[in-house]
Amino acid sequence: MAPSPEPAAPAPGSSPGSSPGSTAASTAGPAPGQGAGSEPVLRATGLHKSYRGGMLSRGGAVRAVAGVDLELRAGETLGIVGESGCGKSTLARMLVGLERPDEGEVTFRGRPFFTRGGVPRDIRRRVQMVFQDPLTSLNPRMTVHDIVAEPLRVHRLSPNARAMRERVGELLTLVGLSPDRMSRFPHEFSGGQRQRIGIARALATEPDVIVCDEPVSALDMSVQAQVVNLFAELQRTLGVALVFIAHDLAVVRHVSHRVGVMYLGRLAEVGPAAEVYGAPAHPYTMALLSAAPVPKPQLRGRSRIMLAGDPPSPVAPPPGCRFHTRCWKATERCAETEPVLESGGGAHYAACHYAERAS
Ligand SMILES: Nc1ncnc2c1ncn2[C@@H]1O[C@H](COP(=O)(O)OP(=O)(O)OP(=O)(O)O)[C@@H](O)[C@H]1O
Ligand code: SF4
Ligand SMILES: [Mg+2]
Repeated sequence: MAPSPEPAAPAPGSSPGSSPGSTAASTAGPAPGQGAGSEPVLRATGLHKSYRGGMLSRGGAVRAVAGVDLELRAGETLGIVGESGCGKSTLARMLVGLERPDEGEVTFRGRPFFTRGGVPRDIRRRVQMVFQDPLTSLNPRMTVHDIVAEPLRVHRLSPNARAMRERVGELLTLVGLSPDRMSRFPHEFSGGQRQRIGIARALATEPDVIVCDEPVSALDMSVQAQVVNLFAELQRTLGVALVFIAHDLAVVRHVSHRVGVMYLGRLAEVGPAAEVYGAPAHPYTMALLSAAPVPKPQLRGRSRIMLAGDPPSPVAPPPGCRFHTRCWKATERCAETEPVLESGGGAHYAACHYAERAS
C-alpha cells in the first residue's frame, strides 16, 4: 500500500506524550526496530575527517569529525543531533561513501566501503542519501521521470524504457505523488513535493540504508510533519534503516529508535531515544534538551541550562573533554583526560567522566 500524503495515524506503541512541543511530526512514531541483536547493516569505526583551506581553518585543519564509532541495524532509525558545525553532514557524507575518511572505516554488512577501486557498485546501490535542500539537489533541467530513473539507469535495474517508466510511476505513488506528473520539472512542485521526489530517487535502488541529512529543515513546519511521517511509514512498510540528521530535537525524538548527540566532531552520547531524552547522561545533552521544546513530561519544569560561550573552534578543540570549556560540572580531570563513550549498563553510552546514570 502506498503511504498517504497526509499525516499518518499514530503507530502502535508510540508514546502519546511524545513531542508535545512540536508542531511537526506530531502523529506517527518510529516502527519497532527490526534488527535488535542482529549484525549491523552499517558500521563506522574510528572515523576522522579534517579539511584545510576552509574559511575557519586559518592555516590549520578543521577537524570536522574526530573519532566517531556507530552502528546501524536493519530497520532501525538512528537520529543524529548537534549544533551547527559539529560535523553531522561530514559524517553523513562518509556514511554513504561520498567522502573518504582520513582515518577509520565504514562497512556495509561487514564489507568495507573504501576499496582501491572506490566504493563497490552494489554498496552504492544499497546505501542512499536524501539531502536537505530538494531545490538544489534535484537537477532543474531534468524531468521528474529522468531524475527518479537516473539511479535505475546507473545500476541497470530496468530492462527497457517501458519498465523504467512503470517503476518510476510506482516509486512516485509510493511517496504520495501522482505518476501523471512525471513529465514535469522540479520547479513545478512545492517544497514538500520536491523532497518526496528526492525520496523516490533514493528508494529507486531498493536501498537497505538511507542517510537523511536535515531532510525536512528547508520545509515549512506543516509540511515537515507530512514528510517525517512519510519516512516513518516507508520504514514500516519497506524495513529500510535510516540515519536521520536534524536540528529539531522533537523531530529526531519522534522518528528515532536510538539517538546520537554530536559535539565538536564526536559523539557525546548515544542510546535508545526514550533514555537519551528521558534521562540524559551527558551535560551537553541536558543543556540541549533544556533549551528545546520538552519531549518528556518528567523533564518539564527543569530550568533551562545556559551554556557559557560559543562552541570552541574545530581547528583547535580543547584538550581533555571537548566540552569542558562550557560545562558547569567540569573539574581538572576533565581538562586533562578525554572521556570515552561508556555504557552505564545497556545500550545507553555517554562520553563523560561524571555521566548521570539511571540507577
Ligand atoms: N568541504 C569543506 N571544506 C572546509 N571545511 C569544511 C568542509 N565541509 C565542512 N567543513 C567544516 O567542517 C565542520 C563541520 O561541518 P559540517 O557541515 O559537517 O557540520 P554540520 O554539523 O553539518 O553543520 P550544520 O548543522 O550547519 O549543517 C565545520 O566547521 C565546517 O565549516
Ligand atoms: S567529562 Fe567533565 S567537562 Fe566533559 S561533559 Fe563530563 S563533566 Fe563536563
Ligand atoms: Mg549539515
